[in-house]
Amino acid sequence: MVKLATLFVCQSCGTSHGKWAGRCEACGGWNSLVEESADSGPVSTKPKARPRSSRGIAFHDLQSTEPPLPRMQTNIAEFDRVCGGGIVPGSALLIGGDPGIGKSTLLLQAAAALSKNGAKVAYVSGEEAIDQVRSRARRLGLEGAHVMLATETALGPILDSLKHEKPDFVVIDSIQTLWSDALGAAPGSVSQVRACAQELTRFAKKRNCAVVLVGHVTKDGQIAGPRVIEHMVDSVLYFEGERGHQFRILRAVKNRFGPTDEIGVFEMSDAGLREVTNPSALFLDGREDCATGTAVFAGIEGTRPVLTEIQALVAPAAFGTARRAVIGWDSSRLAMVLAVLETRCGFSFGGKDVYLNVAGGLKVSEPAADLAVAAALISSALDLPLPPKAVVYGEIALSGEIRPVSRIGARLKEANKLGFKHAVGPLGRNTEKAERNLGCTIAKMVKLSDLIDLIDTRESVAARE
Ligand code: TYD
Ligand code: MG
Repeated sequence: MVKLATLFVCQSCGTSHGKWAGRCEACGGWNSLVEESADSGPVSTKPKARPRSSRGIAFHDLQSTEPPLPRMQTNIAEFDRVCGGGIVPGSALLIGGDPGIGKSTLLLQAAAALSKNGAKVAYVSGEEAIDQVRSRARRLGLEGAHVMLATETALGPILDSLKHEKPDFVVIDSIQTLWSDALGAAPGSVSQVRACAQELTRFAKKRNCAVVLVGHVTKDGQIAGPRVIEHMVDSVLYFEGERGHQFRILRAVKNRFGPTDEIGVFEMSDAGLREVTNPSALFLDGREDCATGTAVFAGIEGTRPVLTEIQALVAPAAFGTARRAVIGWDSSRLAMVLAVLETRCGFSFGGKDVYLNVAGGLKVSEPAADLAVAAALISSALDLPLPPKAVVYGEIALSGEIRPVSRIGARLKEANKLGFKHAVGPLGRNTEKAERNLGCTIAKMVKLSDLIDLIDTRESVAARE
């Protein structure tokens, strides 16, 4: 009797293991291994004998004689910019995000906008009934848009209909609900998600139809996350935000046709997602200038400068072990800034809880935020405010030196626009030129101890009193 081999596949990173374990050795995820039969690959991928008279492959020039097809514009500027200036015909796009963050809302708005611009658009939902999608469209005021709507989870019929209808743009909501009958695995498992994504990507290229796959990010590993298909698609966008905030951020993490790390900012309202064209003003809304423990970071998100408020609280530890809690920034980076402050400047955080928060739900990943984080921490620990109307930027080296950062001009111009006339930053090649051109004053930091001296001056003591 032939015994079917089984594999244990991690549902979060896709690695196969020979035997079950509580923790995936590759990604470190707990309880993410699920049994799948080893023969569950697509039937067509079984090795075939190579035909004797192979056709070979055709080679082409790099230069094309035909002009490239124009990108499809949704005219939702935040969405188009994150895609690199519109959607490329025939491309495959993955939009990942937590359940309930607003992926379906965004894509229904984008689909309706494209149809208004003359594109033939289809929306295939595997999660909601036709009436549910219709009621969302009504809520968004889009019921008049020409979007072909379908609810289906079987891949075969979806592909057949798409081949027949020949749309320019298709939304598949979501990839985790699809299943292909060529496989024995359950819908949502790594094999199914991979196989369906591969088929749809191939379809996109062959038929020149842009395909958008929606993928839920799951933390419990019950269904395969979008990470297992990131390498197949042309662009990967993540839709993120805190549930408690109405801001939503669309971030490009991979883009074969444009820059990555670009962000689009939206606000979730009663009538769907609204674009936020000036995110700095939104993130700084309601800020009190002389509060202690806050610093305004002049950051760059993709191609755009964005100001955000960094808040810190240094409090006596209530229990034996001190807590470090971070929202919107990397916790190991916070540990590094604390260690540099302790070792190079003699600033002790022992026996103290440290809380750090980036206001507005934005996730900052730039190292240039180091100095703003340090400024907020020092300001909270000393209970002294930072100089008023000042933005902060700069990278901290392990030696305690402050390193220059890129695009100072863009950072300061944005600060100027919002009424910040002062800056605290590293001494770099372009610092003086920027100061002269923009008419702002920069407190130039060489070492981290300079920042402590700046905050702990008589003026800031006076401002507090
Ligand atoms: P949805 O697009 O269904 O999320 P996802 O597809 O990522 O799971 O959005 C669901 C949330 O958005 C839901 O909590 C309600 C909220 N919402 C609004 O606040 N306003 C609206 O106009 C719409 C359509 C949804
Ligand atoms: Mg949805």
